[in-house]
Amino acid sequence: MIAGNKPMDRSHWSNFYTVDSFRNRGANAVDILSEYLADSQARTRSHVLNSESPTDRLKYWKSRLNGDLGPVDGALLSEDFLAEVLQRSNHLHDPRYAGHQVAVPLPELAWIQAATALLNNGMAIDEMGPASGPMEEAVMQSIAQFMGFGEDSGGILTHGGTLANLTALLAARQRKSLGNAWRDGTNQKFALLVSDQAHYCVDRAARVMGWGREGVIQVPTDKAHRIIQSELVAAHEAALSKGFQVIAVVGNACTTSTGTFDDLEMLADFAESNELWFHVDGAHGAGQVFSKTHRGVLRGLDRADSVAMDFHKMLGIPALCTGLFYRKGSDAYAAFSQEAHYLYESEDEEWWNLSKRTFECTKRMLSVAVFGIWEAHGPRLWESLVDRLVDRAKVAAAEIERRPRWELFATPKSNILCFRLRDGDNAALRSRLIERGPYYIVKTVLDGQTWLRCTFQNPLTTDEDIFGLLDTLESMH
Ligand SMILES: Cc1ncc(COP(=O)(O)O)c(C=O)c1O
Repeated sequence: MIAGNKPMDRSHWSNFYTVDSFRNRGANAVDILSEYLADSQARTRSHVLNSESPTDRLKYWKSRLNGDLGPVDGALLSEDFLAEVLQRSNHLHDPRYAGHQVAVPLPELAWIQAATALLNNGMAIDEMGPASGPMEEAVMQSIAQFMGFGEDSGGILTHGGTLANLTALLAARQRKSLGNAWRDGTNQKFALLVSDQAHYCVDRAARVMGWGREGVIQVPTDKAHRIIQSELVAAHEAALSKGFQVIAVVGNACTTSTGTFDDLEMLADFAESNELWFHVDGAHGAGQVFSKTHRGVLRGLDRADSVAMDFHKMLGIPALCTGLFYRKGSDAYAAFSQEAHYLYESEDEEWWNLSKRTFECTKRMLSVAVFGIWEAHGPRLWESLVDRLVDRAKVAAAEIERRPRWELFATPKSNILCFRLRDGDNAALRSRLIERGPYYIVKTVLDGQTWLRCTFQNPLTTDEDIFGLLDTLESMH
């Protein structure tokens, strides 16, 4: 009670701010989450992903909202709420998870997330991120230089690769177009060149900028899904002859479906000789820059004007957390320029007002986890993680090659692996696997055919888990 004030009304909101309750429930949550982690790592569940239909999942959550809502006696949230969220989620920490490309977070970072959720500094301007703002500036510069960029490089953190790619392409348009499209709008025909295997968000970014479907020129790829140089040259010439102003070439590092890396040196040469912006969509694979063993596929990365790299894919950081790096740090200011007198002192570059370079105004304190890891480990933790995850894909590939009924799409260069039974309905097989459990893998369509697809995200996945997955698939066929 504040001296001189009346006792506080124990209203709903005030219960949430009680320190003792926070402490007790926090201790309880630590126990529940630790138990969850232990169960996951011990492979105690029958299914990594429960096989309920989306409709049944919705029915359950709707049923909880039927009837009168709250209040719950003596509790801040329903007694079973956390347990049900845990139970009904996809269990990434189970070593038999090898599905979509989302980090299996380093558990320690859950406590950092809790701390930043509590602090909730909004990040848009210096005063709303007095610790995490300068941490972001410092750690992004440090990592940019580690990636091979020079001293005037830099970057920002953003909520996801989709937003990072759009932001980079906005900067590209402003730097490479003849007019000032950001200020004046434009009816010019802009275009970018990218492989026909790019993530859909590159196409989406171009359409958001008003370039339309023709503004994304999909360059044909070879059997391994790499851009074909002669096709790139031809596509560029064709675009120019049709009156397009080509702004950028985008390289994949790597493709989502198959984990294929474009030849970044070749793309850098091409961009340089044609005065194009060179952006690398390294959302998935740019993290391999931390590995001495697996960074060869990124040769040429340091010649990019901008690189998007998801910390929440190969690097163990909880989603969403993407680094957008610029070879020339000041290019970041080209993406947006906004008068906002309630926020900024001037229209100048002010590194300390981070939202001058990001789409987001308020964003989470993304830098804290990245800074904490980088300060404590430098590149070594991420190197060991990348090495382990890529090694998982290599072990699986070797085993698949040993088994005559299986076919491999390509030797893995990352932690992504596509494979299939030669004589089976691979889509049906995958559905049966999910229903049966415990493994979780996904599928994709390559050149009109369904392939099974694993992304090895969990460093605790053992060789035996991999052999068990293949044995189970074979036994079900
Ligand atoms: C190559 C590539 N680019 C972009 C994205 C989109 O990233 P995010 O999901 O972080 O928005 C993905 C996601 O899988 C990706 O694989």
